[in-house]
Amino acid sequence: MDTDAGVLPTSNQREILDIKSRKGRPRLNAVCPYYTMFPLSFPLEVLSAAESQDAVLDPFCGRGTTNFAARLLGMPTFGVDTSPIAVAMAKAKLVSTNPRAVIQLCEKILSCREPVDVPAGDFWSLCYNPVTLRNICKLREYFLEQCESPEEVALRAIVMGILHGPVNKGAPTYLSNQMPRTYASKPASAVRFWKSRGMTPMGVDVLDCVSRRANYVLADVPDAVDGDIVLGDSLTFDYRSLGRRFDWIVTSPPYLGMVTYVPDQWLRHWFVGGPPNVVYDPGAQLGRGSVTEFTAALRNVWNRVSQVSHEGANLVVRFGALPSMPTEPAALIAESLCGTPWVIREVRPAGFATAGRRQAEQFQSVKKSPIEEIDVFAVLGG
Ligand SMILES: C[S@@+](CC[C@H](N)C(=O)[O-])C[C@H]1O[C@@H](n2cnc3c(N)ncnc32)[C@H](O)[C@@H]1O
Repeated sequence: MDTDAGVLPTSNQREILDIKSRKGRPRLNAVCPYYTMFPLSFPLEVLSAAESQDAVLDPFCGRGTTNFAARLLGMPTFGVDTSPIAVAMAKAKLVSTNPRAVIQLCEKILSCREPVDVPAGDFWSLCYNPVTLRNICKLREYFLEQCESPEEVALRAIVMGILHGPVNKGAPTYLSNQMPRTYASKPASAVRFWKSRGMTPMGVDVLDCVSRRANYVLADVPDAVDGDIVLGDSLTFDYRSLGRRFDWIVTSPPYLGMVTYVPDQWLRHWFVGGPPNVVYDPGAQLGRGSVTEFTAALRNVWNRVSQVSHEGANLVVRFGALPSMPTEPAALIAESLCGTPWVIREVRPAGFATAGRRQAEQFQSVKKSPIEEIDVFAVLGG
C-alpha cells in the first residue's frame, strides 16, 4: 500500500504494514480454498481507509475474505451466505484457538467413534483409501452432531481444506487421490481420470495431515473481533437481527449465470451434511434468470443493506462476467444501484479473475478465457 510522503498513515494503514511483516498472521484465511474467492489484499486495501471501529458487512461472504480482512484490522464484521460450505469456511475466519487444542480434538474424535454411514461405490473407493475414508466419516458425523466451539469450527474448516487436492511428493497434504483443490471434479470424470491412469488412493494419516495443517494455519491467529457469519439468503435476510449499523459493505455477488457454487464443491458439501452425490438444485443462489431479474435481485440486496448502514457508508463491489454469459459488469452494477440510495463514486478495473486462481490445470480441465473484473465504489446518500 502506498502512503504519500509527509502524510501520516491512518491507524488501519499502520495495521496493514504490521500484518505484512508477520508472515503467520494471514494464514488462517487460507484454511480452505473457495471457488471465485477474491484475494485478501482487496478488502485489506479497501478497509485501509476505514476507522478501526467501523463495522463491516459482506452479504455474499463466500469463504469470509472480507470478514478476515476486517478481523486483521480489529473491525467488527458480519457475513451472510446461502451456501453451507461457504458458511463453514467463513465461520472459521473468526475463531480464536490454537493448533494444540485442535489436534487434541481431532485425536479424540478419531479414537472414540465408529462411522455409521460410509459411502461406497467406484468414486469413493478410488478417491480415498478405506481407512482414510472411515476417519473422514468419523469427523463428518461428529460435526453433524455438534460444531460450536472454536476448536470444532476450526477443525471442520481444516478438514474441508484438505479433503481433496493434488497428490504431492513427500508427506501428503490432501486426503484424496489426485484432484483439484479449489473445486471437486464430478464423480464420473474423476473415475475415468483415475482409471485411465491406473491411479489408486494411498493411505493418508488424517491426524498427521490435520496436525501439519493446524500448525500452519493457526500459527498466529489475529485477536478476536465482534462478529458472526450467518447462513441466509441476502434477499430475505433480516439484517436488523445483527444488531448493528454498518459503515462498510465490501462484497462480491455471484456473476450472472454463476449458480454452481454447491455442485462445484460437492465433496465439501457432502462433508458438511449434504448427500454423497452432486446436487444441481441452485436453491436460493442468486445468479439465475434474465439480466433484468438479476439486477432487480441485486437492487433488493443493496436496498436492504442500506437500511442497516450509516449515512455516508461505503459500498464496494467486485464484479465480473462469466465467459459463457458475457455482460458488461460495470453497466450491470450501475443498473442494480439505480433506485437505491447508493451513489457511484468510482469504477476501477480490477484485473483478470482467472489469473492464478483456479487449479483446473492440476486435473484435466481446459483453461477458460480470463474475465476482466471491476471494482465499484459507492457511498450511501452520495
Ligand atoms: C463471488 S462469491 C463470494 C466470494 C467471497 N468474496 C470470497 O472471497 O470468498 C459469491 C457468494 O454469494 C453466495 N450467494 C449466492 N446467492 C446468495 C444469496 N441469495 N444470499 C447470500 N449469498 C448468496 C454464494 O454462495 C457465494 O459464496
